[in-house]
Amino acid sequence: MTTSSHTKSFSHKMLLRIEGILNKIFGNDLNPFYYLGALGFYLFWIVVVSGAYIYAFYKTGIELSYPSVESLTHDQPYLGGIMRSLHRYASDALVVVMVLHLLREFILGRYSGARWFTWISGIPLIWLIYVAGTNGYWMVWDTLAQYSTVSAMEWFDWLPIFSEPMAQGFVSQEVLNDRFFSLISFAHVTIPLIILFFLWVHIMRISYPVVNPRRGLALGMLLAMLVLALVMPALSQGPVDMGIEPRNIGIDWFYLFIYPLLDIWSAGQVWALVIGITLLLGVLPWLPTRSKPIPIAEVSLKNCNGCRRCVADCPYEAVVTRLRTDSLHFQEEAVVIADRCVSCGICVGACPSSTPFRSDAGYVSGIEMPSMPMAGLRAAMKGELAKLQGNARVMVFGCDNAADIGKLRSAGVAVMSLPCTAMLPPSFIEYALHERQVDGVFITGCRENDCYHRMGGLWTTQRLAREREPRLRGRIERERERIRMFWASSADFKELSRELESFRASLKKLPQ
Ligand code: HEM
Ligand code: SF4
Ligand code: SF4
Repeated sequence: MTTSSHTKSFSHKMLLRIEGILNKIFGNDLNPFYYLGALGFYLFWIVVVSGAYIYAFYKTGIELSYPSVESLTHDQPYLGGIMRSLHRYASDALVVVMVLHLLREFILGRYSGARWFTWISGIPLIWLIYVAGTNGYWMVWDTLAQYSTVSAMEWFDWLPIFSEPMAQGFVSQEVLNDRFFSLISFAHVTIPLIILFFLWVHIMRISYPVVNPRRGLALGMLLAMLVLALVMPALSQGPVDMGIEPRNIGIDWFYLFIYPLLDIWSAGQVWALVIGITLLLGVLPWLPTRSKPIPIAEVSLKNCNGCRRCVADCPYEAVVTRLRTDSLHFQEEAVVIADRCVSCGICVGACPSSTPFRSDAGYVSGIEMPSMPMAGLRAAMKGELAKLQGNARVMVFGCDNAADIGKLRSAGVAVMSLPCTAMLPPSFIEYALHERQVDGVFITGCRENDCYHRMGGLWTTQRLAREREPRLRGRIERERERIRMFWASSADFKELSRELESFRASLKKLPQ
């Protein structure tokens, strides 16, 4: 796994390769890997809506459950049957999407530091989604339900918490009563509400969370599930007879893989596996990583006017404003919430005080990254610009999480890599082009829709398009052809250098 580094692990390189292929097929806008969290929400809502329909026809009781589901499936196949299939396939897809989402966040290294909260709040969702899914299969009360209920009870009996073994009670039909069905049907409504609560907690520390996939992706997914519902409708597996042990059961491997595992492993081993995985996920944010943490953003009250641009642009809800605590004549001041800041620097790029046109050599912005103060950045840029030679001189600004722009450096190309491209205030572009210190500015960062810090690519694009503060100044409009943006991950270095060369060729054609 990697965090803010150009060296990528094998799994990260594989992920970039797969996502590159998906970008070619779907385009960056519809790449499902960029919308896994949003797809999770979308599938959850499909499960809720289809579930509500099924529930209206479901009858609670040992003799009633199975026939009511059968009647729904066969007496109204056009709607009830479709809804049942949608309910099952959306639930299965939810597991797939959740696991891919978890793996992706892990490979990208987005689980440690200030991100621990979002990571940890995802863990109960795994359990809850599994419990809800298993519970759903029990409600059908077919042979699959019989098999998984008895297995689950035997599994739970291993825990030293029940005075009497539960599995024994399940072996005879007489002991099973309607109360069990009331309990599972109550749980099947309550658990999704708890899931909803945890989903809310999960995205609490994320600004502008993407909870809806793009329309094309949503429609495509719905269509695929509808086709599946028609081709392979969800069906029950024969009525229960507690006197006969069920055989030749079809397993839903997305939800019920634990039960065949219980046939091979002991209950204790399976408990060790699931508790072990949960604990591992739980301690992961605090395990040592290879990347060094970057100090978090700091507000300089003297230079802050309380304009809230940093609040609007922070992707992690890490900046707030409060009433002024000094004597300056502004109403509010910015405050960084230390344990939420991921040190992306995006707030620095948003602040109106982050301008290199200030006269003071040691000027300080309203909000700064202590490891990379604005005055230092200006000095470093000036040093880089002074070394440039020849024509078509270009200043490249890039991101530590994307393609390694260091490799682009040459006599005519200066480079500056930031924790996120959006740390760059547009005034730095104006400054570089000012008095023709360079012939062009080239901006790059993570692939489109795939910003490591979530909003960096979008904010940069909007600032340069003059749709978001701080905007690129109007007078630069005449020089548009001297600015180019190109988004590239570490897997796209060839494309990046080609684009830079084409940019430099186009600069040579402009009046010098
Ligand atoms: C079905 C269950 C889940 C849903 C619907 C879901 C949904 C989401 C959504 C919508 C986001 C915000 C995406 C964005 O706007 O950038 C998100 C972020 C995140 N999720 Fe999940 N999530 C689920 C389960 C999990 C699990 C199980 C984990 C890991 C244990 C996890 C880890 C994360 C992390 C680390 C982020 C933050 C990434 C960042 O810092 O940018 N999620 N999730
Ligand atoms: S560096 Fe700034 S924008 Fe980034 S998380 Fe911290 S406060 Fe928010
Ligand atoms: S953007 Fe700068 S000036 Fe505005 S509130 Fe934030 S720190 Fe203060």
